[in-house]
Amino acid sequence: MIRLHSVSKRYPGGQSALSDVSFDVSRGQFVILTGASGAGKTTLLRLLYREELPSSGQVLVAGRNVGALPARKVPFLRRNIGVVFQNFRLIDRKTVFENIAYLPRLLGHDGARQKRLAVEALRRVGLAHRLQAFPWQLSGGEQQRVAIARALINDPELLLADEPTGNLDPDLARQIVLLLLDCQRRGTTVVMATHDRELIRRIGQRVLTLDRGRLAQDETLPPGDLPASGVAPEVAPE
Ligand SMILES: Nc1ncnc2c1ncn2[C@@H]1O[C@H](COP(=O)(O)OP(=O)(O)OP(=O)(O)O)[C@@H](O)[C@H]1O
Ligand SMILES: [Mg+2]
Repeated sequence: MIRLHSVSKRYPGGQSALSDVSFDVSRGQFVILTGASGAGKTTLLRLLYREELPSSGQVLVAGRNVGALPARKVPFLRRNIGVVFQNFRLIDRKTVFENIAYLPRLLGHDGARQKRLAVEALRRVGLAHRLQAFPWQLSGGEQQRVAIARALINDPELLLADEPTGNLDPDLARQIVLLLLDCQRRGTTVVMATHDRELIRRIGQRVLTLDRGRLAQDETLPPGDLPASGVAPEVAPE
């Protein structure tokens, strides 16, 4: 699903964010990306959905060389990738529905279809009843769940989540992780960036550790207690 071959990224201005990173992720895997602040986690995710281009090396997603993709083909790539950003990026003056129906609208689906997809995605995160709320009327955990619903609305093959549990209390963090594990169970490949070591231990999946832009470790942890516990009752389908 993902193949990085000797990827380096240097931002204009000289900062080297990634150096010679290579790894493969197979379809349906759940991979945790970790490392200290500034290690390159967000940069690596950005390369995967082509918000940034590699300075050298190759980034392949579902067989496509993402770095070499002509700009007009980028929307096709993004159609198959759901992204949960580090800071949610919800638009405050738009309702939950308007925030998450952006992609179906872009794809030209009619109003009824947009609504159906939005309700379905919100149901998966336990928030179908908040369709008409504004982000500022929601708690941090609810906003994060809306951001996940937005990423899921197109049923992506690949889900990228950048610190999806940052700033959430441990119980909400657990719920978010259960949601992501549920996506994996449905066949989605999931890459989640986090520096929460306790959470990583409880998830117990494959962990890629970045250290100042280099891939320092690629290990598979023994199963944690979270995957076994199933979907959190708070976000069970309504
Ligand atoms: N747009 C940019 N322009 C220049 N340098 C950048 C840019 N974005 C990130 N960097 C630099 O690249 C390096 C990696 O940053 P990145 O955001 O990928 O780290 P991170 O692992 O996601 O950190 P955090 O845990 O704080 O989110 C850092 O040194 C950062 O300062
Ligand atoms: Mg980051």
